[in-house]
Amino acid sequence: MHRIISPDEAVDATLTERSQDPTAPKGMEFHHAKQGRPLSTPWQVATIRSLMLAETHLADGWLLDCACGSGIQIITHASVLNRPAVGIELDEERAMASAMNFLTVAQHQDAEALPWYAESRILVGDGTDAVGAMEALGGKEASIALLHIDPARPRNSRTHDLSEMQPPLNEVFRSWAPYFSEHPKGPALLLDLSPRLTHGQRTEVEELVDAVWPKIDRTWVWTSRGRGRVDRLALWLGAAALGPDKRRFVRVPPQLGDGALVISSPLDVPELELLFHPPQRGEYVSILDAALIESGLAVSWLSEVSEEVMTRWAVLEGRRPQLHHQAPLRLDKADDLLVQATGKVVELLPFDLDDTTVDRVVEAALENNMASVKIRMDAPPEKQPRWQGSLDRQLARRHGTKDGFLVRHPGGNMLLLCVCHSESS
Ligand SMILES: C[S@@+](CC[C@H](N)C(=O)[O-])C[C@H]1O[C@@H](n2cnc3c(N)ncnc32)[C@H](O)[C@@H]1O
Repeated sequence: MHRIISPDEAVDATLTERSQDPTAPKGMEFHHAKQGRPLSTPWQVATIRSLMLAETHLADGWLLDCACGSGIQIITHASVLNRPAVGIELDEERAMASAMNFLTVAQHQDAEALPWYAESRILVGDGTDAVGAMEALGGKEASIALLHIDPARPRNSRTHDLSEMQPPLNEVFRSWAPYFSEHPKGPALLLDLSPRLTHGQRTEVEELVDAVWPKIDRTWVWTSRGRGRVDRLALWLGAAALGPDKRRFVRVPPQLGDGALVISSPLDVPELELLFHPPQRGEYVSILDAALIESGLAVSWLSEVSEEVMTRWAVLEGRRPQLHHQAPLRLDKADDLLVQATGKVVELLPFDLDDTTVDRVVEAALENNMASVKIRMDAPPEKQPRWQGSLDRQLARRHGTKDGFLVRHPGGNMLLLCVCHSESS
């Protein structure tokens, strides 16, 4: 049985979890329930995604989120696309929070009379019971333009197994399949999945989709807010697939008003392979954004910033993917978000970093007129701050002018002292 939560009921409910999302406009405070806050999509991420959805041409019908949590994502879809939406949530208090948040956003945007708010509905009930939900919405004629789903997952999951998702994808697909509006590209679905899914698990998701809608178009989208990790991984399907793109990487900008940096490719991308040469003075080393590597789109992006065919991947795993190349990258300001460090190798140091060798790094840095050296390689967490502090202190006392960084060549105990590109050029 599904029940529509009216805005009055939501206002009267005593919801205690309330907070300002730092990425949402000031004063637009969201309600949550039962620790719903960490599950909810940050406003900025949700808005960027809704703006991408506006690139597509959806059929008529409801925008639906069948596990809407605090409702943030379905609210941005409704307000950005200016279309009525339905959110379904199993937990009654969270459904109340969603209804409250809809009202908060509508009031903030002075939009209470607009259809995207006035005709939208929040239901409490099971998101895998499409028959029940459609009955509650009262319309035999009603149909679904878009199905969004961000299933709940155990917080400490190690495996990210698809069977852990609630509601399960296959049940959602089977239940809602008869209710999609007609569209030449098939139904529109947006699956918001665990960012830690392996390649094999992504294939499993595609198999579940193909079992119901064989071969509909699809775009995988990796979203990162920096710090070298993928924050969101989503599969956009059918009428919601993003043009010819098979893959997209979206870097959420640090400044709220700025547009996202988007890299995309209509091609299936080959896996990158490690290929390191002996270390060389004068070559360039770049430490790239790990999330960009995970998306498989690093080579597409590199073709924009260099004419060189890049193959010399010295490190691919972990937080600091390392690429070696012959010429500097041509970066503009936005590209800086994808590069942790880039520069020219000025010194090959035939030792590893430890308590006894920090001073030798300082000597080499001074010989190269350097004012700073940042450690850009894995180091024991209890030692790294001490070594970095020592480098900072010793170099600050001298009169070097160039900034640089230190990496480890993966082929053995060899450190590469690099001068940042802007300085070396
Ligand atoms: C990750 S949260 C969604 C967060 C949402 N995208 C947001 O922006 O706030 C997943 C939600 O699915 C709900 N859920 C789990 N099983 C469900 C079901 N069978 N029907 C409806 N909701 C369900 C959980 O209670 C949880 O609130």
